[in-house]
Amino acid sequence: MPNKKIIRRVPHLTTTEEKELAKLLDIETSDEIIEEPIPEINEEDIITTLHLSPAGYPIKPLDAPERSEVTVNKDLRLFQAYASEQWAGLTVKLDDFIFDQLLIPDFAFKIQKIIPAHANKITSETNFVILKKDRPQLRFQKIAFNEIIGNDQAKNKADIIVEYLKNPDKFGEWAPKNILFHGPPGTGKTLTAKAIASAADCAFIAKKGTTLIGLHVGDGASKIHGLFEEARNLKPSIIFIDELDSIGLNRSYQSVRGDVIEVATALLAELDGLDPSDGVITIAATNGIELLDIGLRNRFEEEIEFPLPKEEERIEMLELFCQKLPQKYEIDFAQIARLTEGWSGRALHEKLVKIVVHQAFREKKKIVTTAMLKSIIESVNKQSSRKNAPSEFFA
Ligand SMILES: Nc1ncnc2c1ncn2[C@@H]1O[C@H](COP(=O)(O)OP(=O)(O)O)[C@@H](O)[C@H]1O
Ligand SMILES: [Mg+2]
Repeated sequence: MPNKKIIRRVPHLTTTEEKELAKLLDIETSDEIIEEPIPEINEEDIITTLHLSPAGYPIKPLDAPERSEVTVNKDLRLFQAYASEQWAGLTVKLDDFIFDQLLIPDFAFKIQKIIPAHANKITSETNFVILKKDRPQLRFQKIAFNEIIGNDQAKNKADIIVEYLKNPDKFGEWAPKNILFHGPPGTGKTLTAKAIASAADCAFIAKKGTTLIGLHVGDGASKIHGLFEEARNLKPSIIFIDELDSIGLNRSYQSVRGDVIEVATALLAELDGLDPSDGVITIAATNGIELLDIGLRNRFEEEIEFPLPKEEERIEMLELFCQKLPQKYEIDFAQIARLTEGWSGRALHEKLVKIVVHQAFREKKKIVTTAMLKSIIESVNKQSSRKNAPSEFFA
């Protein structure tokens, strides 16, 4: 049976040569130019960002040194061009291996993450992110939104941010960039930032404002710069700056602290320098928004207040926390919520529920009761002469 494949006209062959070739291959020639259909790539299949981790060689001589870490040139565009050249056109899925062909032939990279998740085609548009073997930023406790009671304004904004971090290209100039969480200690600011990172499945880089202030002139600015560079390398990512007031004090307080001004100025510059397609979100948190420099404060596109929980919310929180009790419980949640006016979520968790759990263990009680909780509340109230103090224990 002759093979019915048709040979396309090959420009550098004469007709005779072509016929001979066709005979040899036992296929037919054609004068028509048959366009080979270029496989159509569906917009939706295109991978925008691919996270790879170095996986090493499939085989190696026994005496070869271990080599499973690589460093990529700091200029990411350079690596981008290199990676594109060898991998554009591949169809891949999560956990596949792809191999370096050029510099370290047969060195394998494992596909750790594909953005958007349903895509499978590497094109010249695809961004590559090489993960270090160890990424502590990705090892944080995952939080689900339904573990956060109240704070609806924050949750609404969180939805948008998650959407953006999953599809940074979708938003263009309307991309969210930064938000400022403010409110008393223990009201869920850190919790919400972690929930966003969990839902977006992105890196979470948390820094306290105080740790960004350096000892020497220039230290602070370079720490901030390094922070944003790290975030870009790990994108999509969230930078969480806690205790922002420690670096963004109102000018009338900070006149003596040149280092603090330096850090705030560097932060402003980095916030301005973020590109919508970077997939980097900055969330800052403070317990003292009134202390913040107004220039810095204005730079955040949205301020979200985390108030102390209302009675109804305290009921919900107590119910949530008690679901995880190791003991059984018989608790009048409404009564306990009434008695804890002014308590933060953290105070309820740490100063009340945790204490009662420990007490039950100590006293070998199988059931946690309303009476036990009430006596703990009384002793906390006694310890603090000021009203509403429990929420301030944890500043
Ligand atoms: N709105 C809330 N819903 C559920 N738990 C909360 C809430 N607010 C605070 N908590 C509890 O308090 C703990 C500390 O909250 P956190 O987010 O660290 O407060 P902060 O506002 O100081 O960052 C949380 O881990 C959680 O157990
Ligand atoms: Mg916090």
